[in-house]
Amino acid sequence: MTALPRQAKLADLFRQAVVIPVLTIEKVEHAVPLAKALVAGGVRTLEVTLRTDAAVAAAKAIIAEVPDAIVGIGTILNPADLDRARALGAKFGISPGLTPELLNAGAASDLPFAPGIATASELMQALAAGFDVVKFFPAEQAGGIKALRALAGPFPHVRVCPTGGIGEANAAAWLAEPNVLCVGGSWLCPAADIRAGNWAGITAMCDSAMKSLKPA
Ligand code: 3PG
Repeated sequence: MTALPRQAKLADLFRQAVVIPVLTIEKVEHAVPLAKALVAGGVRTLEVTLRTDAAVAAAKAIIAEVPDAIVGIGTILNPADLDRARALGAKFGISPGLTPELLNAGAASDLPFAPGIATASELMQALAAGFDVVKFFPAEQAGGIKALRALAGPFPHVRVCPTGGIGEANAAAWLAEPNVLCVGGSWLCPAADIRAGNWAGITAMCDSAMKSLKPA
């Protein structure tokens, strides 16, 4: 199948993002100060994962109160999660994996969506449903840059957001790969800093990461 037209929009959004922090928000009152801290450090595109009871309220609060943040929803596991993301007003959705049901729902929805892949067969399923922009997860654990380069052989037009095991030490190497649009990861929003309300520390980390990673 040819790629869905909205995948080009998702590719632009990912390219602009450079880094997408994967946010696990345990308390809704952390959501807005955390998003403001990230945005203040130049990290505007955020993935709010549906992993906690607070996630939906947290995403709503960020969308309402932090207009400079570009909010996507992550850990989309089924069509209902995808509907939830769209209803919230998210700009994109990301999944760690894929199922036939999720791919069908993603193809039918107008929400830009990146399914997750770790193997050639999974990537073939994503492509068959029109998704040529995908999350490569878990990136380091599934073979790292060598695995991604190997996948680029049979699938040269596919572009990815690798996530899983990416941090300060290896983000630049991933971003240098021609099929990598941006990298995802939790390293810019450590749980301990969120719990402690260390917003200034998060802003400083983001600022330094963006200065070193963002192309001039
Ligand atoms: C994800 O959900 O995308 C990963 O759990 C993030 O991986 P990391 O914590 O290794 O950055």
